[in-house]
Parts: sequence; C-alpha cells; structure tokens
Amino acid sequence: MSLTFRHAIVVGASSGIGAEIARQLAAEGCSVALLGRRTAELQKLADAITSSGRGKAIVAAHDVTQYDTVPALLDSLTAQLGGLDLLVYASGIMFTPGEGEYDFTQDRAQVEVNLLGAMAWTSPVVAMFEARRAGTVIGISSIAGERGRRTFPGYATSKAAFTTWLEALRNKASRAGVNIVTVKPGFVDTPMTAGIERKPMVIPASKAASLILAAARRGGSPSVFIPGQWWLVAMVLRHIPSFLFRRVNI
Ligand SMILES: NC(=O)c1ccc[n+]([C@@H]2O[C@H](COP(=O)([O-])OP(=O)(O)OC[C@H]3O[C@@H](n4cnc5c(N)ncnc54)[C@H](OP(=O)(O)O)[C@@H]3O)[C@@H](O)[C@H]2O)c1
Repeated sequence: MSLTFRHAIVVGASSGIGAEIARQLAAEGCSVALLGRRTAELQKLADAITSSGRGKAIVAAHDVTQYDTVPALLDSLTAQLGGLDLLVYASGIMFTPGEGEYDFTQDRAQVEVNLLGAMAWTSPVVAMFEARRAGTVIGISSIAGERGRRTFPGYATSKAAFTTWLEALRNKASRAGVNIVTVKPGFVDTPMTAGIERKPMVIPASKAASLILAAARRGGSPSVFIPGQWWLVAMVLRHIPSFLFRRVNI
C-alpha cells in the first residue's frame, strides 16, 4: 500500500521538521495549510511553494495553546483546502534546565505545546477521519520520551505522554481505517537543536521529513524511529536498570 496525500494541515510549519514536511508534501502536489505563530516564516514558505508551481499553500497564524480555537480553525482550513487527509503535528518546544534548576513555568509550557496542543488537534481530526474511515495523523514525538532523562525532565515527560496518547489513538481508531503514525526522531539539525554541541547520528531536517513521509505512506499505523538506527538505542535505553540509569548523564 502507498498512500497519497492531497490535503494536509501541518501544525508547526514555520521551521525545522514541520517546514520540510510541508515543503515535500507540496512538491508532490499536495495542498498544505501552514500553521504556527511566526507568520513571516510561514508566508516565506508559502511563497516558495507557490512559486515552485507545485502544490498550494495557505497560511494560518495559530498558537497551539489556544485550544478552544482549534475546532473552528480546523473547519475553516478543511473548507479552504477542499478536504483533509493528513494532519501533521510538529509543534514542539524543548527546555534544558541547568544543574540544580527546576522550573515549573517551562515544564508547564512544554506540556501545553508538546502534549495538550497535540491532543486539541488530534481529537477532532481523528473523530473526522474515523467517521470517514480514512485519513492519516503524523505525531512528531521523540526518542526523549523513552526514559525519564535528567537532562530535560519536562521535555521527556511531555514526549512520553504524547507517545502514549498516539498509541491510545491508534488502538482506538486504526480499526476504523485511520493511520496513526508515531514518529520518534533522534537528533535532527533544526533551530531546536542548534545549541546542542554533541549530536550523535544527526541528520538534516530534509532527510527526517522524507523518512517520516515514507513511513506514513506505507500505512498500517506505524511507530518509527528516525532514522531507524535509534530503535537499537531505544532498546538499550529501556533495559538499563533504574539504579544505573540515574548515574548516566543523558
Ligand atoms: N530536532 C530534533 O533533534 C528533534 C528530535 C526529536 C523530536 N523533535 C520534535 O520535532 C518537532 C519539530 O521540532 P524541530 O526540531 O523542527 O524544531 P523547530 O525548528 O524549533 O520547530 C518547532 C515548531 O514548533 C512550533 N511551535 C512552537 N511553539 C508553538 C506554539 N505555541 N504554537 C504553535 N506552534 C508552535 C514553531 O512555530 P512558531 O514558533 O512559529 O510558533 C515551529 O514551527 C518538535 O515536536 C520536536 O520536539 C525534534
């Protein structure tokens, strides 16, 4: 099976992985709605898509923490696109606290963007897709959600919960023909990771986007590590006993 995406909403399309996914979808002739807070960045991408002569792009300013605005925006974008067969939730923020630092404000913000915003978008979209018995949702979670990490407790927690949410959606809706894709990237070269010095196995955002779209097109509600080698890392991480894991600086 190879799915074709014709009408997509990309939440978090102003930079990094989301922007690359939107660019590649449009290059295949898909009409894409680009969402995020930085409308200048979104407009630049929309202009590039339009001038390439492939696909169509519309821009919508949106802060994912404005949960109540999602249903009306979803209806409006679906109408403007002429349908919807793919939702990509790529919005995310990461805060890395220093040694001895604990910051509830930052932790709450990560949960609000990385988890609650995703729940606000995926709930009405999966309901729509379940009723139609077709459609794909791509959620960009992270390998960071595999264990509670001392380097970014709030980020790891938000991603672990997002991964669990996507698995629950898959178990609820895949029997109705909805394709729920959980994506767990390792290091991807984007503005989010620009300040990180050591990035083993880092890949460009364009490579991450093409691997993600290839996995989504295969259907079958996969859960994938990007690139695939991170599966082995995740297996090792999962099996390190807690009393040893707390001694490791990752
Ligand atoms: N880069 C990596 O190594 C890596 C690894 C694993 C997972 N991930 C995940 O991949 C996803 C994309 O990250 P990236 O690396 O591409 O980072 P990025 O370039 O910083 O992109 C983050 C995106 O999230 C959007 N966003 C942040 N806060 C938002 C808000 N309140 N409302 C709406 N959109 C918001 C940003 O748009 P605006 O600022 O315009 O709102 C931007 O489009 C994230 O979920 C991240 O956690 C990244």
